[in-house]
Amino acid sequence: MTARPIIIDCDPGQDDAINLLLALAAPDELKVLGITTVAGNVPLALTERNARLMCDIAGRTDVPVFAGSDKPLQRSLITAENVHGRSGIDGIDIVPPVTPLQPMHAIDFIIEKLESAALESVTLVPTGPLTNIAAAISRQPSILEAVREIVLMGGAMRQGGNTTPSAEFNMLVDPHAAKIVLACGRPIVAMGLDVTHKVLANSARVARIRAIDTAPARATAGMLEYFSRHDSKKYGKDGAPLHDPCTIAWLLQPNLFETRHCNIEIEVESELTMGHTAVDFWGVSGRAANAHWACDVDAEGFYELLSNRLAAYEGTQ
Ligand code: BDR
Ligand code: CA
Repeated sequence: MTARPIIIDCDPGQDDAINLLLALAAPDELKVLGITTVAGNVPLALTERNARLMCDIAGRTDVPVFAGSDKPLQRSLITAENVHGRSGIDGIDIVPPVTPLQPMHAIDFIIEKLESAALESVTLVPTGPLTNIAAAISRQPSILEAVREIVLMGGAMRQGGNTTPSAEFNMLVDPHAAKIVLACGRPIVAMGLDVTHKVLANSARVARIRAIDTAPARATAGMLEYFSRHDSKKYGKDGAPLHDPCTIAWLLQPNLFETRHCNIEIEVESELTMGHTAVDFWGVSGRAANAHWACDVDAEGFYELLSNRLAAYEGTQ
């Protein structure tokens, strides 16, 4: 099998960080061309540092990490230290990473990589605000020819918003960027809160991960324990929703998910409902489908996949 080339664009964030560990655990299936970082959960200086730390923990100091946009296209940055802690990845020991930061800007990297890639060959995996991806598309629209698909985490329909009553965090932080991405014309798979709230990191699942004795599994357990405290209280459930790893899980095992091909538009004008994703699940708008909206997931299967991949690091640590 040839590994599928991907670029992960993220704002770690514990769940982005776990997503990186999951992706780097699957070298036979996924070739991580680069990790690009954006301001979101915490400011850019922390998201790029946190991404590099995950490469260290995965034993993959060779993966190039780039820093990108430090603020959304038009709006002021909103961060989420209340959920993720001041570092963004509270729950593990933070040390200066060995993995270097590449000198190139993330947007330049995305453009350069896609310009030299074969037609419809590269999958983009954004798990933060879509600022870098939208900026790259706007600056050089022809790069879309090299995009096979975009598998993103963002949006909410049945679940409602998690940051405002109407909006999910990534969509709220940069709705203008999301609008550009949703209109780009390439295949999109959107992992929104409707599925991420079904993959709860409950105590039994975290205990199972903690029992796996690899550095990435220990880091995952520590991060899950930290942010589960906040989310369990907020949602009144045992365990936090595990958002971003739904993207890589979908790439590795799409049969875990159910999706619906439909139209998704984003609100960019009303302050009340800013960042709301209008998911036309029942096809009532007459607008053309532009995304595959994830609507169901096999949560047990998801944790089985995550645990097995974290266990596969054995011998490398
Ligand atoms: C999204 O927002 C961030 O807090 C998480 O990292 C995830 O990408 C969930 O709404
Ligand atoms: Ca994220």
